[in-house]
This record gives sequence, C-alpha cells and structure tokens, in this order.
Amino acid sequence: MKVLVTGSGGREHALAWKLAQSERISEVLVAPGNAGTAREPGVRNVPLEADENARLVAFAITEDVELVVPGPEAPLVAGLVDQMERAGIPCFGPTAAAARLEGSKVFSKEVLDAAGAPTADYREFTGLEAALRHVEERPAPMVVKADGLAAGKGVIVAETHEQAHVALKDMLEEDAFGDAGRRVLVEDFLEGEEASFIALVDGEHVLPLASSQDHKARDDGDRGPNTGGMGAYSPAPVLDRDVEARVMNEIMHPVVRAMRDNGTPFRGVLYAGLMISPDGAPRVLEFNVRFGDPECQPLMMRLQTDLLDLIEATRAGRLDQVQPKWDPRTAMGVVMASSGYPGSYAKGHSIASLDTADNSFVKVFHAGTAMKDDEVVTAGGRVLCVTALGDSPTAARERAYDAVSDISFEGAFHRSDIGTRALEHLRD
Ligand code: AMP
Ligand code: GLY
Repeated sequence: MKVLVTGSGGREHALAWKLAQSERISEVLVAPGNAGTAREPGVRNVPLEADENARLVAFAITEDVELVVPGPEAPLVAGLVDQMERAGIPCFGPTAAAARLEGSKVFSKEVLDAAGAPTADYREFTGLEAALRHVEERPAPMVVKADGLAAGKGVIVAETHEQAHVALKDMLEEDAFGDAGRRVLVEDFLEGEEASFIALVDGEHVLPLASSQDHKARDDGDRGPNTGGMGAYSPAPVLDRDVEARVMNEIMHPVVRAMRDNGTPFRGVLYAGLMISPDGAPRVLEFNVRFGDPECQPLMMRLQTDLLDLIEATRAGRLDQVQPKWDPRTAMGVVMASSGYPGSYAKGHSIASLDTADNSFVKVFHAGTAMKDDEVVTAGGRVLCVTALGDSPTAARERAYDAVSDISFEGAFHRSDIGTRALEHLRD
C-alpha cells in the first residue's frame, strides 16, 4: 500500500524511513519532505505543504493513498484527520476536537482538572489589567503561556515580575501571537527534570512507547533560549518503572477517560511534556498530539516492530493486544543547527561528508535540508539529527559525536552535552 507522511522535519524523515521498511508498504510519499526523504529508498517527495489540508485530501484520492501519517500539529488542530476520513482515507491522529489538547492550553487545563491529573496551578486571562494585577500577587518565577498554537514560541518563563508584564503586554496588547495569544495562562513555575512521555492512544487503551528525553535549551548546560529540541535519547533513565506507573495511573489513563467522557475520544500519538519532581512525582507541562521532534528519531531507531502494525492497532482500538519490541540499546540523536537558530539564520549552504556518516550504528536524519542541483544544502534552523545506537548511553553518545565531527556546513553548531542527564542518572 501507499502511505503519505506530511511534514518536512527530522521527525518526518524518521517516520518515512521506518515506514519504508514495512513489507506491506510499496511506497512512502512525503509532503513536502526534505533532502533526506528525497534520497531515501522507497520514499518519494511530493510538492505539497503539510498545512494544505484540502490539497492533501485531493492528492491522497488521486494517488490511491491508503494511509496518511501527519507529522506536525497545526494541520491536526485544523482538522486534517476529519477531512481525510470524510473522504474515506484512513488518517492516523486525533480529530480537530481531540487535537485541542495541544491547540488550546486552556482546554488542556480543563481536561487535566476534570481528570484530576497533576499540573501547575494557573489562572486564565483575556484582559491585560486583571492579568497584570494577578502577576503582582504571585511570586516569581512564573510562566506566561499563549492559549493557542504559537510555533513553540508562546511560552515565556518569567524570572521577574517585569518579564511577566512584558510577556502579557506582548500577547494581550501587541498581539505578538495573533489570535493564539488573545487568551493567556499565568501558571506556577515547576521545578524538577523534564521528560517526554509519548504514547499511542486508541480512544481507550494507552500504549506507552519507549521513554525519551530531549534537550530544549540551545546551549550546553541547558542555557540559552528554548528551541524545538537540540538532541534527544531513548531510553530516559529518569522515567523508571515507578515513575512510568505513576504517569500512567495519575495522568494518561484519567486524561484518556476524560476525553472519552467529553465526547472527544483521543486517537493517535499523545505526548505529555512532564516535569518530574525530585521525589519522582510527575506533573504535566503541556500536551502534544504528535510525535516529538527530535524524540521521534531515537524512538524510530530503536523500534523493531513494524510501525504500520502499531498505527493500524491504534486505529482499530486494539492497542491492548500489541506489544512493540524495542532495541535494548540506547539511541542518541544530536541536532546540527544553523548559526542564529532559534532566531533567523542563513540557508543554502552546502553540507559536506553527509554520506560517509551513515553506517549500521548511525543514521543521519535530515530536518532543514533541500536538494540544489545534485547537492544537499541547508534549508532550516535545525538541519540534521545525527542519531546513533550504542550498548550504553556513553557508547551511543561517542558514536553520534564521531559522526557529527565528520559532517560540516558553514555556520553549523550543536550542543556538546546531549545525554548528560542520562549519564548522571546512571552514575547515581
Ligand atoms: P510548553 O510548550 O508548555 O512545554 O513549554 C515550553 C517549555 O517551557 C517547557 O519545555 C519547559 O521548559 C518550560 N515550562 C513550561 N511550563 C512550565 C512550568 N509550569 N514550570 C517550569 N517550566 C515550564
Ligand atoms: N521536542 C519537543 C517537541 O517536539 O515538542
């Protein structure tokens, strides 16, 4: 069968690469893809953007696509699954109503409250004066969040009252995030260690994928501005058996039940961004309704089960009957980014020594890359996610960084401490 993956990042390269390994899939189409998917055996790029929902539906009909696997969240929030399914095309993910778990932070808080699941205390505001008065009464630091989707930029961790004021004025007065920021949350700052809990959900059952963790800050030591993620690894030792059981019992099951009781059952990938307190108590920072990027890259590297089987089980409500197999080794992915990211950056630089980096332990997933004539050039902030398997976090890390040191392009930078927290946990 033909499968259509939508999106153009490292996550989508990893999904397309994994799906192309399925014996039941004849071809994976990627809209629009990148240079990595363009050169992947069994994969073909198609010139459609991931958010052109109506055109994607028309294309899927013409090409006899039998399954659509959307990568990014915005098209899901805009109803891609509803539109595809109306046209009779199976599409893996939540409906628009269920995707509000990511599309509206106020909605996700309401669901968390209904589920009795642990999260930071918050208040919501649409008026600036009331928000400013509230902030004055709260201790800093605190967190100001735009309600809607803001391409990962709508969360401001305010160290001071002054910073919270600026964030609120940007959102509620200056419309910095448009409609997404006309409603805001002010929530308590949580301390602990962040982790990604990514599960498949079929409306009723929850199947946790292997644990993973990413590094959101741009610079070593978790300093500098927040990014989409500068590297990730799986498994994540912080999510040990006890913490995982708590996440399932206190968060995932109650939330999935609350969604069903709401009349908006959740199907697809449910990714809870968590803060784990030092005593192992998990609290929800946010929900995503898709795979994490870059967490998806190490996860796909470790997944030994056919991804198509898992997707079909999710769609059929059979997740209680499948048990995915994972490579016991650690997979670690290091992002190579363009100088300037997460701000503005140059594009079009050629990338040297790409092909020599891949081997049986290392896979270079592309993110912001494009083909220019016969050459691979940079085309985004996050350019590559160099992912390696190893018998230990240390071994995976050495292999990943060896491969990173082979690859070069003008303005390339990466964090040199991916995996540090995993190593610290193992030392403890
Ligand atoms: P979000 O998009 O809600 O995950 O927020 C982006 C980042 O902001 C998270 O990955 C955290 O690093 C940070 N963050 C969000 N909410 C909180 C909170 N309540 N306490 C501490 N940090 C937070
Ligand atoms: N790596 C964080 C995210 O995908 O949202």
